[in-house]
Amino acid sequence: MVAEETPKGLAANRFKVLVEQRSGGRIGVQVFPNGQLYGDHDEMQALELGAVDLVAPSLSKFGRIGLPEFELFDLPFLFDDLNAVRRITQGPLGQKLLQALPRQGLVGLGYFDNGFKQMSANRPLLEPGDFVGLRMRVQASRVIAAQMRALGAQPVTLAFSETRLALAAGVVDGTENPVSNFWTQAMHEAQTDLSLTNHGYLGYAVVTNERFWQHLQPADRTLINQALQESLAFANQIADTQNDQALQALRQAGTTRIHSLNSGQRERLRQAVQPVQQQLARRIGPRWMKDLQQALRQA
Ligand code: LMR
Repeated sequence: MVAEETPKGLAANRFKVLVEQRSGGRIGVQVFPNGQLYGDHDEMQALELGAVDLVAPSLSKFGRIGLPEFELFDLPFLFDDLNAVRRITQGPLGQKLLQALPRQGLVGLGYFDNGFKQMSANRPLLEPGDFVGLRMRVQASRVIAAQMRALGAQPVTLAFSETRLALAAGVVDGTENPVSNFWTQAMHEAQTDLSLTNHGYLGYAVVTNERFWQHLQPADRTLINQALQESLAFANQIADTQNDQALQALRQAGTTRIHSLNSGQRERLRQAVQPVQQQLARRIGPRWMKDLQQALRQA
């Protein structure tokens, strides 16, 4: 879906190199960045049909295929830092979530980060009042939609590949994403202000089709899985740096004003979206919510 110079793009290319090297070229990997083959609407179907073998959608995109529990990752201001994210993705709760995937004929192979999301529009977004009336592009996640509504904005679900044009055409007024996605999609050309809210997390799960996975020779499956796990660890190492570099490039481009929030502003945003946890608890599932709170407390 995203550009090659993002954490996901770089991890995919690393995976390709590792698999091809270790199999002596016997197993080839083709990487299709930038939504070249499929978009948000059809990538899962393509996986199901075997037209592609691996996809790495954001965790926000599993709700629409009947796995709403994955939307827990979208709860605003849930994670204080990436260590808190790890407690979920590398703990029992993360495993349990992956075990839900066979329900949809999928096998989950692991998680990795992009990072924390920022808000953009043609005005600074520092206080809850700044969002009122704005049409904000969101991924197809009910939790993210509820977050935007809680801020007084109108959420508009759009595919990632359509977002830049929609911003440029004024179909939507703003959006949220980590800076690496913002920069590599040239959203800065369509947005005058980026506010560093760090209000939510964007991460991915790598999924494959159960049929494809079972069809592999056990030794090949091990080789592929090993290369993948190393690539995901690599993505987690570089994700922060990629976002920092994108922010630096954005500063240099000079197209977009970059705003930091003070602690009072961040706290008021946090307060404004607080009701989302309760509102969406039923969709995510009370059990999952309880496990989540427990895992986060075990700091
Ligand atoms: C988005 O749709 O905003 C992101 O999920 C894109 C991505 O894959 O990082």
